[in-house]
Amino acid sequence: MNVLKRCIYGISIISIASMNVQCKGDKKVEETTTEAKATEVVTIEKSAYGTTPKGEKIDSYKLKNQKGMEVDIITYGGIISSLKVPNKAGKSEEVVIGFNSLDQYMKANPYFGALIGRYGNRIAKGKFTLDGKQYSLAINNDPNALHGGPEGFHRVVWTAEEAKGGDSASLKLKYVSKDMEEGYPGNLTVFVTYTLNNDNSLDVLYEATTDKKTVVNLTQHSYFNLSSDFSKPILDHEITIDADKLVPVDATLIPTGELTDVTNTPFDFRKAKAVGAAIGAKDDQLKKGLGYDHCWVLNNQDKGYRFAASAYDAGSGRLLEVYTDQPGIQFYSGNFLDGTLPMRNGGTYAHRTGFCLETQHYPDSPNQKDFPSTILNPGENYKTKTSFKFSVK
Ligand code: GLA
Repeated sequence: MNVLKRCIYGISIISIASMNVQCKGDKKVEETTTEAKATEVVTIEKSAYGTTPKGEKIDSYKLKNQKGMEVDIITYGGIISSLKVPNKAGKSEEVVIGFNSLDQYMKANPYFGALIGRYGNRIAKGKFTLDGKQYSLAINNDPNALHGGPEGFHRVVWTAEEAKGGDSASLKLKYVSKDMEEGYPGNLTVFVTYTLNNDNSLDVLYEATTDKKTVVNLTQHSYFNLSSDFSKPILDHEITIDADKLVPVDATLIPTGELTDVTNTPFDFRKAKAVGAAIGAKDDQLKKGLGYDHCWVLNNQDKGYRFAASAYDAGSGRLLEVYTDQPGIQFYSGNFLDGTLPMRNGGTYAHRTGFCLETQHYPDSPNQKDFPSTILNPGENYKTKTSFKFSVK
């Protein structure tokens, strides 16, 4: 192909903005890139994000589809640092809380966008026993252990592999958690694959294997604000949770061991209800959680992967539906956000300006004999999938 033809070909399949690049530099390389892009429905672009004080290079991957959805994932903590989806007018805007630098992500923050492990949620007093042996974890949420420990999966560097094809593109992250790292037994090899599809859904596939009996409960800790206006609390968002029961907690947010009926309580989200509708109600559980910070017992556990919860913001028209094969979902209404952490473009994240829908096993399962087991044995495959599906209505 001569230069002119190549340029015309370029114009027909890519935007004018990128045309200059196509017509200027090395010809061979560009042609390949251009042709590859033309057949790719969902693209991935890698860029350097920063360097940790230890000298580890952190990359950022942008997955972008043709329906206006874009997801940025960094190899530090497997963090979703940005997620843009269209509103009802077709305008793509940011819908997750995040920072704009590695430095900020490395400072203390409440798990913004991060992968959580080895055990998401709380373990009472940081202790559990396997085969008669007691294990002790750091107490990082006095008096309990929370979210895998102070140096949990949200603060480690993952390696990344890209995969493209069909109507989707994936980023497969890998991390090997060493035997006794953060107090957990067994070398645990973990893969988390983020897949962006062209129907505006983001799948998160979690896989793990161990060489010693251990406990595993992985989740994703994105804070959503579907209005894209992070100066506004999420109290208007309408939530549904397909759960007849709740996992009630004590004053330290550890399950009491019962599973209680949500009927006639502020925890009944079987029909869509605004977050703010009952969050101020006089209720012992709301008092303990300082709002919603609870695990719901999802219905239809025998069905495996199924609808779990949704959130809708009428102003933007954005609807988020969460599907999972997990038994529970932690709905957290951002009660600890306190206006101290910086927004991307000025201002700070105030009380309840984002909510989390963390699919998982129930908290403290290693110490609760009646809860579904979170034990992983050598030779077993931990494999679970959650999807975040976006649309407008
Ligand atoms: C989880 C917990 C909350 C809180 C947040 C982070 O959702 O359940 O209590 O710790 O993480 O602040």
